[in-house]
Amino acid sequence: MKTTPQQSYTASSKRYDNMQYRRTGKSGLLLPALSLGLWHNFSTTDNFENAREILHTAFDNGMTHFDLANNYGPPYGGAETNFGAILKKDFLPYRDELIISTKAGYDMWPGPYGNYGSRKYLVSSLDQSLKRMGLEYVDIFYHHRPDPETPLEETMGALDHIVRQGKALYVGLSNYRAEEAKRAFKILKKLGTPCLIHQPRYNMLDRWVEDDLLATLDENGVGAIAFSPLKQGILTDKYLKGFPKDSRVVKDGRYLKVDQVASELERIKQLNAIALERGQTLAQMAISWLLKDDRITSVLVGASRSSQLLDSLKALNNIRFEKETLEKIEMILKAS
Ligand SMILES: NC(=O)c1ccc[n+]([C@@H]2O[C@H](COP(=O)([O-])OP(=O)(O)OC[C@H]3O[C@@H](n4cnc5c(N)ncnc54)[C@H](OP(=O)(O)O)[C@@H]3O)[C@@H](O)[C@H]2O)c1
Repeated sequence: MKTTPQQSYTASSKRYDNMQYRRTGKSGLLLPALSLGLWHNFSTTDNFENAREILHTAFDNGMTHFDLANNYGPPYGGAETNFGAILKKDFLPYRDELIISTKAGYDMWPGPYGNYGSRKYLVSSLDQSLKRMGLEYVDIFYHHRPDPETPLEETMGALDHIVRQGKALYVGLSNYRAEEAKRAFKILKKLGTPCLIHQPRYNMLDRWVEDDLLATLDENGVGAIAFSPLKQGILTDKYLKGFPKDSRVVKDGRYLKVDQVASELERIKQLNAIALERGQTLAQMAISWLLKDDRITSVLVGASRSSQLLDSLKALNNIRFEKETLEKIEMILKAS
């Protein structure tokens, strides 16, 4: 439902009608097949009503999971602050229907205690995140990236401590390779706080998880939530006719570069043709392609407007692929 700044929000009564929910590893927690990430477009410097509308659209369509991190912005903390304001305005009556996650692991504040994986950093960072969002607890707290210097026992011990403090219900890891993830799972299990989920980058053009991470997660009963499933917008039809002024690559350019988009355009054209044959947009096909694997608990999309989310949600109508289609896709993806 579209609201004006003055209006309060009432969630759609049909919000659970079409979403599929998948079990997160061997846990009791179900996540929506599509989750919403607040990395871009949700900060204090972004349009508040637009961010609010995207969140309404997500929840109205059964996307019960919103993913944040301490440093999403700019400025750092901005996405959590803004999300906190929207939560207060619209979502407090629905808190028990939501899975809210945040993370710490990248640079957040100056000095030696605002980065990487010490107990000092993780515990204080989550306290700050909870304050910014106006929450008593998050549902999932992640260590955002491995820290080669801090003993894994200390980082995992901090995650266990945070759960025992009641500040997170579950814990997860992000960007850990298979071997280090396996060691972390063992430590967490021993501590009595099993790892719920792993958050790796995974999309048609970035498939490192297929080497051994997905098998490791499966063997250990840990869920997988794939981030940047559209490769930040490259795996859509948006760049086929040029570089739109309001696109991430033009507007922001911190993490997505023009050259990176340009070098993929030939493959994107070919993939787009296959998507059209399937009756899908390329964004929908890129999401379906991930969801065909039932080891993927959820696909974590971003959006700069609610119409994109409505488009992406239609991926759920067709996540099956003919063998021949998969082979054609594989040929395109393997060509350099
Ligand atoms: N753990 C980590 O280290 C890590 C790192 C990165 C991201 N993440 C998480 O993953 C989330 C998603 O990442 P992401 O934003 O890179 O995901 P993405 O889904 O690959 O890219 C989102 C962008 O794609 C475009 N888009 C989305 N839907 C579209 C559609 N249907 N049609 C055309 N264009 C569409 C929009 O670009 P425009 O803005 O150009 O319109 C949107 O901003 C983040 O918000 C964050 O929660 C985690």
